[in-house]
Amino acid sequence: MANVVVVGSQWGDEGKGKIVDWLSERADVVVRYQGGHNAGHTLVIDGVSYKLSLLPSGLVRGKFSVIGNGVVVDPHHFVSEVEKIAGQGISVTPEVLRIAENAPLILSLHRELDALREDSNSGLKIGTTRRGIGPAYEDKVGRRAIRVCDLGEPETLRDKIERLLTHHNALRRGMGAVEISAEAIHSELMAVADKILPFMDRVWDLLDERRKRGERILFEGAQGALLDNDHGTYPFVTSSNTVAGQAAPGSGLGPAAIDYVLGITKAYTTRVGEGPFPSEQDNEIGQFLGEKGHEFGVVTGRKRRCGWFDAVIVRQTVRTSGIHGIALTKLDVLDGMDEIQVCVGYELDGQRIDYLPASMGAQSRVKPIYETLDGWKETTAGARSWAELPAQAIKYVRRIEELIGASVAMLSTSPEREDTILVQDPFQD
Ligand code: IMP
Repeated sequence: MANVVVVGSQWGDEGKGKIVDWLSERADVVVRYQGGHNAGHTLVIDGVSYKLSLLPSGLVRGKFSVIGNGVVVDPHHFVSEVEKIAGQGISVTPEVLRIAENAPLILSLHRELDALREDSNSGLKIGTTRRGIGPAYEDKVGRRAIRVCDLGEPETLRDKIERLLTHHNALRRGMGAVEISAEAIHSELMAVADKILPFMDRVWDLLDERRKRGERILFEGAQGALLDNDHGTYPFVTSSNTVAGQAAPGSGLGPAAIDYVLGITKAYTTRVGEGPFPSEQDNEIGQFLGEKGHEFGVVTGRKRRCGWFDAVIVRQTVRTSGIHGIALTKLDVLDGMDEIQVCVGYELDGQRIDYLPASMGAQSRVKPIYETLDGWKETTAGARSWAELPAQAIKYVRRIEELIGASVAMLSTSPEREDTILVQDPFQD
């Protein structure tokens, strides 16, 4: 297997950071292909914790890393994240990092608009990360975005900013916010242009060349498939496609470049922000999971909502992302429970269904149907082989595989990368 896509199979925060780090050692190139600095990936290496939200995780291992065109880039955040991890002793130069010339930029006006909308009483509160992700993607689709390559053409940049502001100032007037001058945006961009342009490249071309040379590419997904703009719990979603197929257009390679899709799957379910969550446990069980699993957002520090494993949504993700195998994470959080519930189907208006319906109303009405499994008292934390796992824990894992229609390729038993049971190396089928 040459190229692997890693995708979150729930609502994000499945523990992708550790798995991506594990895989990046086997890869030659690591690519981000969607999202922006709304993601939060924590890597723990030799006891040192690295928190990344925009830069590909492979950088920490010195791997050639790429920010693809499908990512929205906040240039100021880019500069500060580069400085932060460089300060931790990681080399971040154009030798090892490239940004797609056609990646759209997140500007301060996007951040402000994100917050204005979230705070407005009339709008639908999504519970966004307030990083300007949604407004930046809107401008991309609206064909008025400022892109990385525009920073290298100062003579036409002003016109592009004016065109963008015709749209944004009209919006801002309507929302009672002060208008913005072209000069302010221009200086905001010029302050960082020289720090970004050295990293700019024709990413589709370089990735294709490297692929042809037989290099292994790891596509690092952000967020989770249930936050996908098409396939997620719309409108409580992010503004990019988070399903695995996005790795192709988000980097400029054709779909045949994807050989294996690994779905990162937490042994229970969490979600940050608003929106439906059928198996949510807003009670002492949810509290137990949240405390034991340290379920706080890396980016915003928000407390994550917690609940039982929902096999319906993961089964759907296995299909919408074409998942070949899963990496199951945080099984040890369930250690010590008497009983564990798994959501195996939903009841919608008196009928049993085995999928997540598309409409917002139906998604809010579905009631989980649970199957109860025995828990286990022993600890699974740090296990490195199946023999170290209690029989009930293995039963739980096997039942999940059956319910979602995909097998466990990797089982992660602690944040340390060595604490992993490998069943199938995604890079070597
Ligand atoms: P946005 O991506 O900031 O627009 O937020 C839209 C929704 O996606 C909100 O519910 C966020 O909490 C959620 N979200 C965005 N990024 C992440 C992530 O990395 N992990 C989990 N949830 C996320």
